[in-house]
Amino acid sequence: ISAAQSQTTLESKLEALQCHFTWDQEMSKSLILRRKDNVDDIGTEEGNSWLGHIYNLRGFIQYKLGFTKDAQSFFNKAAEAFRKIRNADEGPWLVVNYGNLAWLHHHLGDQAESQAYLSKVDALMNKYPSPSQDELHPEIYAEKAWTLMKFSPDKTLAADYIQRAIRMQPGMVEWNSSYILALRYASNHSDTGLEADLLEKVRLAMEQDPENLHLAVLYLNQRAKRGEKIEEEARELARKVLRNPVSSHSGIKLLLKVYNYHVSIDEAIDLVEEALETHPDERYLKKCATLCYKLKLTYFRDSHPEQSMIDRAISLLKDVIALYPHSSLVKKIDLANVYAKSKYGQDKAEQIYQELLKSDLEPADKQVLYNYYAKYSNFELKDRNMSIRYHMMAAKIPHQSFFRGNSITILERIKDRGRNRKCREIEEFLENLQEPQ
Ligand SMILES: *[C@@H]1O[C@H](CO)[C@@H](O)[C@H](O)[C@H]1NC(C)=O
Ligand SMILES: *[C@@H]1O[C@H](CO)[C@@H](O)[C@H](O)[C@H]1NC(C)=O
Ligand SMILES: *[C@@H]1O[C@H](CO)[C@@H](O)[C@H](O)[C@H]1NC(C)=O
Repeated sequence: ISAAQSQTTLESKLEALQCHFTWDQEMSKSLILRRKDNVDDIGTEEGNSWLGHIYNLRGFIQYKLGFTKDAQSFFNKAAEAFRKIRNADEGPWLVVNYGNLAWLHHHLGDQAESQAYLSKVDALMNKYPSPSQDELHPEIYAEKAWTLMKFSPDKTLAADYIQRAIRMQPGMVEWNSSYILALRYASNHSDTGLEADLLEKVRLAMEQDPENLHLAVLYLNQRAKRGEKIEEEARELARKVLRNPVSSHSGIKLLLKVYNYHVSIDEAIDLVEEALETHPDERYLKKCATLCYKLKLTYFRDSHPEQSMIDRAISLLKDVIALYPHSSLVKKIDLANVYAKSKYGQDKAEQIYQELLKSDLEPADKQVLYNYYAKYSNFELKDRNMSIRYHMMAAKIPHQSFFRGNSITILERIKDRGRNRKCREIEEFLENLQEPQ
């Protein structure tokens, strides 16, 4: 066969692989950088049963950002992590990893090495066929599900894949736990909590995986939402969570939410400050801390916050903005809103907002900003007309999101109350509003 033909065969084989390169979706660079922030916050602690998957995904992100050397080193770390976790030199869990390496070498122009990895994939697939003929191997479904959960907005698809993996290979505790955590994302964050059978599923998964504190926190949160008293249990669980390494998988963020809404917001602040004393440089903890301060200062509208608390919130927010340069829009908005609470901060707040309003943002980010600025105009500037204008601007952006829905709800409320001189205008606006595709 000619060189051209063998190149085509190689490419069609690569296309048929199951790996990050074929699961990929078009994504803007700024979105990739934000997802990278999230993946980096998982950390790479020894003992995490998803460590192989974490390195595979980090490698792929580095590739997408143009750092091929880093990509290769992460893929190698993934293989090493799988070796340790599965206590075996090879197995079907390496199919995705070898697939990634075949693609990477292809992009680097090393077709011989790419071909070598393709052969390794073939060998693995022959040696470890899927137990179900027209389905992927459960190891592949599990990795695909985990990757989608971290990297793509389609959590429902992720839940479907992990369920398939569990059905074919029911013995993997961490898959069951991950499924439960995926369900939580797929369940639309309902206020009343998961339905009864789902709650029972959380309880069963927790029994099987008692080390997984994220599950334990999820269970506690669900019970709190149903009105159970959980303060003492929350405090006990907090001791355990704080002993574990800092990670977005540790359950700390959800635990703080439980504290904020079901224990006390001041205790939440004490808890996160205690964690920061032990880990003063962990950006993820600082980010969690800013959420507590934001709630305390702006959401629950503490009417006379102490200046020292405002100063602490401002200093944490500034740190977090610098530590998450790619996902700092909402933190900058929070900073403006906290400044607005302080005696001499109003000018500073307005200045931050004006800079953001002038900056070059993607439509979805503009929508977030307009929604916040509309509320700020209403509450801080007492300028109802401006508030209405910005809610309209947010609603007009053809992107379905919480913020669009929120702006529409507020406009409807103003219209229904019928006291504003702009009622007619709002009514017309809402009638002519197009649903995003
Ligand atoms: C995982 O869940 C499946 C289905 O719910 C169940 O049959 C299996 O026993 C569970 N596995 C473990 C290890 O808990
Ligand atoms: C979440 O909401 C979407 C859209 O409203 C709906 O299609 C989906 O079924 C819901 N998911 C769950 C688990 O309730
Ligand atoms: C707000 O808009 C209404 C109607 O468009 C107008 O009559 C009113 O003067 C405006 N108020 C301010 C403070 O600009």
